[in-house]
Amino acid sequence: MNCSVIRYLGHAGFAVEHAGLRVLIDPWFHSAFLQSWFPWPDNSSARKIAETKFDYLYVSHAHEDHFDRRFLETLDKTTTILAPNYRSRGMLRRFNELGFANVVPLDHRQSFELADNFTATMFLDTSHKEDSGLMLEMDGFRFLDLNDCNTPMSELPDRVDLLAAQYSGAMWYPNCYDYPPEQMQQKVNAVREGLLDTLYRKVHLTHARAYLPSAGPACFLDPVLEKYNDPVKTIFPQWEDIAADFARACPSTDVLRLYPADGVEIAAGELRVSHSPDALREDDLASYRERRKDDWGSFYEGPETPIEASEVEDYFASLQRRNKPLLREFHKHIGISSGGRTWGVQLGKLAEDFVIEGEEPYDPEYVLIMSPRILRAILAGETGWEEALLSMRIDLHREPDVFDLTFMSLLRYGNEPAQTQQIMRERRNTETIERDGFRIQRFCPHAGEELAHATIADGILECPRHHWKWDVNTGRCIEGGTLPLKIEHIEKCGKASDPAMDLPSA
Ligand code: FES
Repeated sequence: MNCSVIRYLGHAGFAVEHAGLRVLIDPWFHSAFLQSWFPWPDNSSARKIAETKFDYLYVSHAHEDHFDRRFLETLDKTTTILAPNYRSRGMLRRFNELGFANVVPLDHRQSFELADNFTATMFLDTSHKEDSGLMLEMDGFRFLDLNDCNTPMSELPDRVDLLAAQYSGAMWYPNCYDYPPEQMQQKVNAVREGLLDTLYRKVHLTHARAYLPSAGPACFLDPVLEKYNDPVKTIFPQWEDIAADFARACPSTDVLRLYPADGVEIAAGELRVSHSPDALREDDLASYRERRKDDWGSFYEGPETPIEASEVEDYFASLQRRNKPLLREFHKHIGISSGGRTWGVQLGKLAEDFVIEGEEPYDPEYVLIMSPRILRAILAGETGWEEALLSMRIDLHREPDVFDLTFMSLLRYGNEPAQTQQIMRERRNTETIERDGFRIQRFCPHAGEELAHATIADGILECPRHHWKWDVNTGRCIEGGTLPLKIEHIEKCGKASDPAMDLPSA
């Protein structure tokens, strides 16, 4: 029987040793998303662990707080990559570009034997989102790293000994919107409750013996982003803010509160925490900001050049051409505001004049406000909308205040049309499940969560992932977004197996 060690590298990073082999997971040390996110607590003390030789590297997804390109460039290129095999092939392409020759693509629930009694199993978010978790089984001990991945609840493994998963937010909603303070706090609270509910479900479904808080929150060192460090007014609480809630909800699960460079030793299935003398347990954001000022300050390097209307037009024309199936029958007026200029963009239209510069020419339903530096980076393809929105450097306004899946998917995934095509497949999916006297579409119309674990009570169905809610009698979405749910009473429609249903169309 081998002794295994799991060292925490901060955020979602781990270094795992077992049977003489070493696996590096999600090492993140540089700033991410337009120099706005930084690991918190400061994990520089763990960097020397990550800089040693590893046999395997696993990076869960392409977000820059997981795929730290500058750090990955420094690694030995003979390291074998355990790569999530996404539809877009995006991760395989990235590792190829970095010069890694040994890449093992793994599909959802596919296992790979690293050594005798040492197995890695991939768990994908099977919707259009490209995210993944990894389970390492070491002499029967199961370490499940879900980071911020939402594998369908019905597909999670059980008998997990140690679960590492997100408890805090990693999203621009609602904090980048212009809600009045009271409404903002209500929305923040709702998101936080949803995140914790999702975490509790993961803990219960996996029967996790121990839980390791990880995968965030990041901190924001650029002084202009300081408000996003508030642990009450944002969706980014620290572990100590929610530890008591977790203890009440998951009383039989131990919590391992580790700092970067701390570790866990596993022998005969038992866990023992080993605290590192290098771990930085006392720190404050002001001194961290000072230590990393070259990094966050580099965002402001170089001149800001004004944007021309033709650049905006070329960009959106290309984006729309690449995502025609997604935009079929779609129309939306949005506003892009930058450097004192505003462009109205009529999405869904490809003829001339779909971009008009003016005051607020089309009373847009969605407005994105940002500096020319950010808009320039997006138009030039140096960053994507997903990354720019995650930077919290874009202010947002929408009227009406409802989530628009097609529009956000165009921005977030439009550079990888394989993802927007998958959204269309999800919309056409006709699979159903039966629960509590209802026949329901199997996958959530928002982001594909399997609805076998949905809550149905008081005439309302609630998805366990992002907590959208529907009226079970009409399928109308009453909270979260606008997409209807296909649902019907089994008794009312005759035989339970009768596939003919008069349902609202998605
Ligand atoms: S997957 Fe987002 S609400 Fe269901």
